[in-house]
Amino acid sequence: MTGAASAPEALARFKQQAAEYAVQFIRSGMTVGLGTGSTAAYAVRLIAELYGSGRLRDIAVFATSSGVGRDAAGLGLPMLPEDLPSEIDITIDGADEVDPGLNLIKGGGGALLREKIAAQASRREIIIVDESKMSPKLGTHWPVPVEVLPFGWRSQVRYLSSLGAEPVLRPASGGGEFRTDQGNLILDCGFGPIANLEELARKLESRAGIIEHGLFLNLACDVIVAGPGGIKHLRQL
Ligand code: A5P
Repeated sequence: MTGAASAPEALARFKQQAAEYAVQFIRSGMTVGLGTGSTAAYAVRLIAELYGSGRLRDIAVFATSSGVGRDAAGLGLPMLPEDLPSEIDITIDGADEVDPGLNLIKGGGGALLREKIAAQASRREIIIVDESKMSPKLGTHWPVPVEVLPFGWRSQVRYLSSLGAEPVLRPASGGGEFRTDQGNLILDCGFGPIANLEELARKLESRAGIIEHGLFLNLACDVIVAGPGGIKHLRQL
């Protein structure tokens, strides 16, 4: 996406359009997962409006980060406790990069662990993005966020480098290092276009001290893409 279509106002409009499209799949009585990030925030606000006006009744929501939990509670949404005593009917979340097989890189907002727990607990994971997030191969546009335990974290830099990454410790916006909701660190790992996603995911998952990674493979059921040409609804086959 270039020029006018990537202007901040146009991107904001696309994010809102994708959110509006996705929210129509929520029905009264459902348990709904709320994603983290600027795109998912549009969905949270729309769900709160529908609930507040009575058009959606008897829903319960589960937040994928403490920040979204605070926002959702502030908007009057009925929150499920963090232990999630049920499965989730639908989660609507954003993504940083989406490939043609609907695999994702997530975690730009640092909520990858809770987002993956919600995605795996969801009957239907709907991802909403503007067109700029689409990519021929994951890793082309975005590093893979890797959440690591602070204990021994420098050894993870070495391990991730041995896998071909250039890990960068994520800074916090106010200075110091970024901490996740779990108090962990994030190493943003630029791999470039990733040839074998499953193999990389396995290697990341086999390492003690790596808590989670931002590769979401085969988890998205639907991807709603909004751009200058309108909405595209991509479905997992
Ligand atoms: C949060 O940890 C992320 O996975 C977000 O869903 C992702 O970074 C997309 O964020 P935006 O919608 O703000 O681009």
